[in-house]
Amino acid sequence: MIERPWWQHAVTYEVYVRSFADASGDGVGDLEGVRQRLDYLEWLGVDAIWLTPFYRSPMADFGYDIVDHTDVDPLFGTLGDMDRLLADAHAHGIRVIVDYVPNHTSDRHPWFVESRSSRTNPKRDWYYWRDPRPGSSAASDGRPNNWLSLFGGPAWELDPATGQYYLHTFLKEQPDLNWRNPEVVRAMHEVARFWLGRGVDGFRIDVAAAVAKDPELRDNPLDPDPKPGQFGAEWLRQVHAHDFEHPDIVAMWQGFRRVLDEAEPPARVSIAEVASDDLVRWARYYGPQLDAVHMPFGFHLVRADWHAAWLRAAITRVEAAVPDGAWPNWVLGNHDQPRIATWAGPERARVAMLLLLTLRGTPTVYYGDELGMENVPIPPDRAQDPWELNEPGQGRDPARTPMRWTAGPNAGFAPATAEPWLPVGDARAGGDVEAQRRDPGSMLSFTRALLRLRRSDAALLDGAWSPLDAGDGVLAFTRAVPGRRVAVVLNLGADAASVALPSGGRVLLSTLGDGVRAGERVTRAARGGGPAAPLAAWEGLIVELDEP
Ligand code: NOJ
Repeated sequence: MIERPWWQHAVTYEVYVRSFADASGDGVGDLEGVRQRLDYLEWLGVDAIWLTPFYRSPMADFGYDIVDHTDVDPLFGTLGDMDRLLADAHAHGIRVIVDYVPNHTSDRHPWFVESRSSRTNPKRDWYYWRDPRPGSSAASDGRPNNWLSLFGGPAWELDPATGQYYLHTFLKEQPDLNWRNPEVVRAMHEVARFWLGRGVDGFRIDVAAAVAKDPELRDNPLDPDPKPGQFGAEWLRQVHAHDFEHPDIVAMWQGFRRVLDEAEPPARVSIAEVASDDLVRWARYYGPQLDAVHMPFGFHLVRADWHAAWLRAAITRVEAAVPDGAWPNWVLGNHDQPRIATWAGPERARVAMLLLLTLRGTPTVYYGDELGMENVPIPPDRAQDPWELNEPGQGRDPARTPMRWTAGPNAGFAPATAEPWLPVGDARAGGDVEAQRRDPGSMLSFTRALLRLRRSDAALLDGAWSPLDAGDGVLAFTRAVPGRRVAVVLNLGADAASVALPSGGRVLLSTLGDGVRAGERVTRAARGGGPAAPLAAWEGLIVELDEP
């Protein structure tokens, strides 16, 4: 095994805190609930957890609207709970990454309350305040530019008391901080220092791409050829040239990296949410000397066109874009996306997990995906996500439903007397941790076996990635270190298939379950032809090749 920083060999597991485990019995998950499930996470075999925001918040965007960055919201517990969780996670050999939300605060944050109090307040410039456009009447279209909120509607809100507009890339309850003001940078670095001092192992950086905007706040050009995407039609009609990713962004993250590198002990990690499709822009976040964020999230396969040729080409492009010496990152699902088993299809949930955990780089597993959880339909009167309420159909609630621990009341997420904040969905045969733990053929048993194998396999941890030519419908690649090579073959289709391998070998793991097919030999066909691995419909295999 190559000696590497811990996070390069780690598998991260995203805990959407509201939905993981409710210890207090109020229907919302909490930090103590997470602590009580550390045995499970250790048993599963993940190395780090990422906790979504648990800071004090009015919860307009479920915690991504912070009023106090250095305290825990009572809904999730106390600072003492967080200290206990950190200590216990470390005792379980699990690192803890917390969410860092730099782009905006809550409109009730004391900084914003001060900032909006008058045009001359010392914190006025901590946020983006602008006069109405000359010639407009305050009541009409006086917005300073054409920028839009990702959650629908314009990105500017008029504050009648001071007669100026403020900018909000998300909800109007989430005003954007002005990172061009050094006082803001200092204050936000202090937030990071606070959590580093408490012992967190790193940060997941929320909308890292938004903190540098065009200094002149110019209008975004219109897109002559808008492509379909995750956001509302109006938002997609613009080229987001000025509201996101001004080139100064790299220097901002270099500054943040220095804060991390000064921490004692060092070795903290930063993983930045960057959704850029442009791989050159995406790769800039590593920094020219690999001195900005440790990794931008690799979202490139999320909601992908699930065809072998497309995936092969996309992975090849990302591998080529990652700078020399930098480390890739892969994600297939999170709290902003539909469940993998829903967009890729439930029958592909296992090959998706196999792909995620065998690509070169640090993967993030979204809670519940190890069970193959699917989107849970949310009746309109139970909708919670503000995006859903603004733009029906865009909502993220279906992928944020409570973790399914047991077949009992509330799926074991919360005491039977509680009403979970989102419905737990229909009980499916075998669709909970308790049942899947007992079944060696379950998705959970497969995921656990895969995590175990990955931890001990130098080729899977460190090996170079090379695609194999596997024809239509099958994605195949090798991972190789000197002296060891494994092949990963994924049948993405409903027909049985067979994949030619560069040499004979031995099956280490099949998506069909822990121990199923393990040890089976893949040999040269009796009459001519090379060694070929047979695959059932939707099956994936890891094969240890005889010839490294
Ligand atoms: C990205 C987060 O993942 C999402 O959940 C949130 O709504 C926005 N950023 C705003 O903070």
